[in-house]
Amino acid sequence: MKGSEVRIEGIDKHFGDFHALKNVGVDIQKGEFFSLLGPSGCGKTTLLRIIAGFETPSAGIVYVDGRNILPLPPNRRQVNTIFQNYALFPHLTVFENVAFALRLKKYGKQEINSKVEEYLNLTKLTGQEYKKPAQLSGGQKQRVAIARALVNEPDVLLLDEPLSALDAKLRQHMLIELDMIHDKIGITFIYVTHDQQEALSVSDHIAVMNEGRIVQVGNPTEIYESPADIFVANFIGEANLFNGTVTAVEGEMVWVAVEPLGILKVTMEPGDLEGTRDFKPGRRVSITVRPEKINISLEKPADLPADAFNFFPCAVDEVIYNGFQSKFFVTIPDFARFTLKVFKQHMSYYSTGSEINWKDKAWIWWKADDAYLVEVHDA
Ligand SMILES: Nc1ncnc2c1ncn2[C@@H]1O[C@H](COP(=O)(O)OP(=O)(O)OP(=O)(O)O)[C@@H](O)[C@H]1O
Ligand SMILES: [Mg+2]
Repeated sequence: MKGSEVRIEGIDKHFGDFHALKNVGVDIQKGEFFSLLGPSGCGKTTLLRIIAGFETPSAGIVYVDGRNILPLPPNRRQVNTIFQNYALFPHLTVFENVAFALRLKKYGKQEINSKVEEYLNLTKLTGQEYKKPAQLSGGQKQRVAIARALVNEPDVLLLDEPLSALDAKLRQHMLIELDMIHDKIGITFIYVTHDQQEALSVSDHIAVMNEGRIVQVGNPTEIYESPADIFVANFIGEANLFNGTVTAVEGEMVWVAVEPLGILKVTMEPGDLEGTRDFKPGRRVSITVRPEKINISLEKPADLPADAFNFFPCAVDEVIYNGFQSKFFVTIPDFARFTLKVFKQHMSYYSTGSEINWKDKAWIWWKADDAYLVEVHDA
C-alpha cells in the first residue's frame, strides 16, 4: 500500500477567545479513504488546514509516518490539498494548470509531458488539454483540480468538500470517480464533507465531528448502526428517539418504560454483555430506531413473538411518496406529541400488501434487535 499514515494527537486551536478544535486526536491508516464528517462550523476545514500547514495549532502534534510535520512549511509536507473552489489558474490551459507545479520543480519537458498526460488520462480529461477553465463544465474543472493535486504524487491528499459546487447527480458520479482514482493510486485520502451519504458510501473510516471535537471514529456500518451518542444518531441518517427508564434486564434484553407509550423491548450490543455499559433498573436511557427498520401495515401481523418485537397501533398523519420508497409520519394514540418516521421500500409492487394512505389506522412494529440503546445517562 502506498500513501502515508497520519496521526493527529491532542490538537487544540484557538482563534482569539473561540475554541475551534478541542483535543482532537485520530489515527489514519496508510492508503485509506478517511472522512471528516460534521455540520458547518465544527472545525473540519481548520483541521485540514493544520495538516496542510496553512494554520498553526495552539497545541498538539501531527505525525506523518511517525514524523512530526508541524515544523515543515506546506510545500515540504508531501501533502496536497484540493479546495472547494478549485483555485485553478484562469489564464492557463488545462495542460498548464496541471503542469504548473512540475515546471516550478524544474522537471524536464519530456517528463512534464508524460506525467501531465498520465494524470489527465486518469481523470478523464484527455482531449481537453488546450481549454481554459472558463470553457469547462463544473465536473471537468473539478477533475483538473484533482489532476493538478495528484501530479505532485503526494502521500496524502486532503480534499475539502471538493464536490460541493456540483449538482446532485454529478456529485454522485464524481464521488464514484474519486473512489476509483483512490483505488488506483492507493494514497491516503482525507476527505472533508458535511454530507453523511457521501461519507458513508466511500469511506474506510469516518470521524464524526461536532463543535470542535471528534465524537466518534468508526467504519460506515459502525457509525450508522452503533452511533456513539444522540448527536451522531441524528446527524447520520434519520432516527426515531425515545427516552425512558430501565425497568428490567434479562440476558441481552432490556425493558424500558417510555411514558406514556408503554414498555419498549431493546437488546444490548455484544460489548454491553461484558458490562461496558450499565443498564440496571432505574437508569435513564435513550433508544433509537431507524425508520427503515420499522414495519408498517394495515393489519396487525400475526405469528411474531411478542417477547422479541414492539407493536403499536398508529395513525398515519402524512405519506411522502419517493418512488423507490414511501415515508410515513405516524403517531401512536396517547403519545400524539411524538411523530415517528417509518420508511418502506417498494421492493415489488405486487408484494407490498394493501396501500397505506393518509389518515389510515395502521400497525407499526420492530424487532427488539433493531432498536439501539444509544445513551445511558448517569443515575
Ligand atoms: N481565521 C479564523 N478566525 C476566527 N475564527 C475562525 C477562523 N477560521 C475558522 N474560524 C471559526 O472556527 C470554526 C470552525 O471553522 P471551520 O471552517 O473549520 O468549519 P467547517 O467545519 O469547515 O465548516 P463548513 O462545513 O461550513 O466549511 C467556525 O466557527 C469558524 O467561524
Ligand atoms: Mg469547511
